[in-house]
Amino acid sequence: MRGNFRFLVAWLAALTILVLAAWLVVTKTTRGWFEKDVALRAELALSGARRALVADLRRADMRSVQDLLTDLARDERILAAAMCGSTESPVAVTSGYPSSALSCDEMARRIRPSATSPAHSWRTWRDTVALAGGDVHVSAIPLIEGDQALGFVILVHDLSFAARREQSTQRFLFAVFAILAVLAAVITLFTVRMLWRGWSHTLHQLSLGHGDSRPEFQPLLKDLRDLLDRLAKEESAELNGGLWSPQRLKLTLQRHLHGERMIVVANREPYLHNRRPDGSIEVVHPASGLVSALEPVMRACSGVWFAHGAGSADRETADAQGRIRVPPGEESYWIRRVWLTPEQEHGYYYGFSNEGLWPLCHVAHNRPLFRAEDWRHYQDVNLKFADAVCQEVDSDDPVILVQDYHFALAPRLLRERLPRATILTFWHIPWPNAEQISICPWHKELLDGLLGSSIVGFHTRLHCNNFMEAADRFLEARLDREGLAISRNERSTLVRAYPISIEWPNRWVESAPASDACRASVFAELGLKEDAKLGMGVDRLDYTKGIEERLRAVERLFEREPALVGRFTFLQLASPSRTLIDRYQRLNDDVEQLAARINARFGADLWRPIVLKREHTEPADVFRYYRAADLCYVSSLHDGMNLVAKEYVAARDDEQGVLILSKFTGAAQELTEALQVNPYDIEESSAALSAALHMPRDEQRARMRVMRALVAEFNVYRWAGRMLIDASRLRQREQLAGLLSKTRLSAMGGRG
Ligand code: G6P
Repeated sequence: MRGNFRFLVAWLAALTILVLAAWLVVTKTTRGWFEKDVALRAELALSGARRALVADLRRADMRSVQDLLTDLARDERILAAAMCGSTESPVAVTSGYPSSALSCDEMARRIRPSATSPAHSWRTWRDTVALAGGDVHVSAIPLIEGDQALGFVILVHDLSFAARREQSTQRFLFAVFAILAVLAAVITLFTVRMLWRGWSHTLHQLSLGHGDSRPEFQPLLKDLRDLLDRLAKEESAELNGGLWSPQRLKLTLQRHLHGERMIVVANREPYLHNRRPDGSIEVVHPASGLVSALEPVMRACSGVWFAHGAGSADRETADAQGRIRVPPGEESYWIRRVWLTPEQEHGYYYGFSNEGLWPLCHVAHNRPLFRAEDWRHYQDVNLKFADAVCQEVDSDDPVILVQDYHFALAPRLLRERLPRATILTFWHIPWPNAEQISICPWHKELLDGLLGSSIVGFHTRLHCNNFMEAADRFLEARLDREGLAISRNERSTLVRAYPISIEWPNRWVESAPASDACRASVFAELGLKEDAKLGMGVDRLDYTKGIEERLRAVERLFEREPALVGRFTFLQLASPSRTLIDRYQRLNDDVEQLAARINARFGADLWRPIVLKREHTEPADVFRYYRAADLCYVSSLHDGMNLVAKEYVAARDDEQGVLILSKFTGAAQELTEALQVNPYDIEESSAALSAALHMPRDEQRARMRVMRALVAEFNVYRWAGRMLIDASRLRQREQLAGLLSKTRLSAMGGRG
């Protein structure tokens, strides 16, 4: 609209200049024509009376001269006339002659070529003279007979008729010019608009990734494609070359997203404050794959992490808005704690998220429970978080990272409030097939909520495909299977696989004692002999982790290799989790009983084959165990990624140790040098345990080296960097598409 207005103003200005110029030319030309015409008439009139005048002057018959002048002045165009003698004094004047303005003396000066020229060298003089009553045209014509000057006649012509004609001619010409100019403006405007419409439509199509085969667009399209290719190459070079570090991630954020603050929305906070029984406050780093992955990203980029304030001392350690700077002692970003009522926590977290969605998404044979009451709390809490984010953001296009299955509705709620935001949603757990997701009575709402995102990320391509399949089956949405995008309500959401990872270099490894020292301290702690072997597992006490299957595989190992009795110990670190849920309580009891049974069966004296630590273990300690253990067994029955596997690899900078990995984890797609097993298959798993314990050191080194190189390269900074680069590319495309549709609208006259 503004563009059209500017164009119109420019046209009007050009038109005015054109008309003014035409007016000046016309005025000058017509006036010249009329003056010439008047002068000619004067000469003609005088030539008729000349003979008689000369005769009268010679006879000095002044009366007759007067009569002749009066006759001349009868012409409708001649206002007055005068005759001046050779002595430059008046001989006769008609009535109304302006004697003072056009005196004989004065006029003599005009007809004389110079002050000393003799009378017979007089020349005719004519010009327009301004008098009090208006402009008149004056002709002074000498009467020369031979070389004798008899005097000169002055004729004063009326110019008002010329002015009148001039005006009507000007009016006519002005009208013609104006009509022509308006016509030219309209035609030009129309042509430009049609051209622009065509161009912007083509560019718009192009910006949406559709081609155009029209030949006139080919050079432009080629340039644009080259530009996009170059940018994509630069980006992929940027993404692929070299190792990713916190500094590089920070630079990427600055370069691609102008240093936007990161806004993370995740249920679990990276630092909990709990009150101990003695009244003191402890800071806990919770056991959560999500937290281990995202926390280093936040340290690198800074920003605000919105989370449920779940610690018993969380309120007293935060400010009035629930904010606290973390990590303790380093303070590089903020946590904003969102307070939930006990009912909300129960319905949203324990109920809908962990009794409904968690078992629904993991094929771990635990029936999901969906209650309408829980769903209401889930909706309320998603809204509560979306509102909290809106209060905190300081621009209308922030970059928001929504995390996990606790917040399937938040992306849509945020999109409604912040239409220009870049919302990256990452689903940390598997996304099941369409049949299975439809078990949830609100599966359409979940899908629609997630499609409020700019990008929805999963760990694997399979989960992306499942998600696209579900959107296709249950929603009114258009799918671009090749470009992995879903369009709904005029907005497009990209669906991408971003396999998550851990920090590398890893601060827990860097601050840990040497491997030998770790082994010595752990062996001493567990009372193991020097030549004993140690296996380990680290998990939240969760039924998806296959802890029971793992312990049964250890039991089977002892049956297969009785020589290991007394010489092999399995340490299970099991962090209590979601303890208010029945299924988790049962699991806790089952694991305890199973470990006790195996220990009773094979244990002797002080030695126990299974050491079960059912308590939270801080990361520094977990890494000490990793560095001491001969093998680590990750036996998840179904897992989005599983970062324990990657952590074990990161911890083994001595390139020793064997990873046994369930093939039902996302990590199994990357860590192909691990011993991969079906954890349900107890025979196969116990054989893998045995193979690990007997694996030569060189083979351990070879496998570990390859896996370490992979985790180093595909670390969490690269994970975040890829998402941010994709987000920035998307932002650019959206800005371009917005710009083009805006110009298209204004080219259409602002319709719509
Ligand atoms: C999984 C989920 C995370 C969650 C973690 C710990 O890794 O994907 O979102 O934080 O489990 O579970 P919790 O319920 O204790 O947060």
